[in-house]
Amino acid sequence: MAAAKTFDFTGEVAIVTGAGSRMPGEIGNGRATAILLARQGAKVALVVYNAEWARETKRMIDIEGGVSEVVQTDVTDEESCKNAVSTTVELFGAVNILINIGDPFAPRNTYEIQRELLVGINVTSMLLMSRHVIPDMRMNGRGAIVNMSSVSSLLGGNPSLLYPTTKGAII
Ligand SMILES: NC(=O)c1ccc[n+]([C@@H]2O[C@H](COP(=O)([O-])OP(=O)(O)OC[C@H]3O[C@@H](n4cnc5c(N)ncnc54)[C@H](O)[C@@H]3O)[C@@H](O)[C@H]2O)c1
Repeated sequence: MAAAKTFDFTGEVAIVTGAGSRMPGEIGNGRATAILLARQGAKVALVVYNAEWARETKRMIDIEGGVSEVVQTDVTDEESCKNAVSTTVELFGAVNILINIGDPFAPRNTYEIQRELLVGINVTSMLLMSRHVIPDMRMNGRGAIVNMSSVSSLLGGNPSLLYPTTKGAII
């Protein structure tokens, strides 16, 4: 049975970064956002490093009759972000919505590695993706960008060193 529409995003094109989930069969924030946008009629580019995780999201969207494509991307890398945006425009004609999700986890080896990974995925990626979608949004005269933070940015704490700081930077 088709789910009820709260909003009508028919004709809109969205990029959702981090639209997979590391937990098989579970719903993370990126996957949930992508499914909800597709349910309201948007065409959704699933921009994720681990394509296998995004294929599971696409499978869930397909079941509901939604439209999405996996665009394998490293959102911490400028060329990769640029390619994600141009591929989305080739696939769906424009980008009207960008949702930057981020990732709470980084391997717990050294401070330097954690710092590089968390700042890369939670801060730099949002600047890079925004930089490359804004020209297309300007050309079309409109657009919306959402960057996901966390309550950890206000309260501190887990799940990893520097995570609350990167989320504070987004606010
Ligand atoms: N889980 C929570 O309780 C919670 C609470 C508040 C905020 N958040 C925020 O939600 C966001 C997602 O967290 P989640 O728990 O849903 O995680 P998740 O595991 O569902 O999703 C993380 C996604 O990030 C992707 N990713 C990681 N590195 C990448 C890279 N370099 N390039 C492209 N994609 C990459 C992964 O492939 C995955 O799809 C995070 O920003 C987190 O801070 C989560």
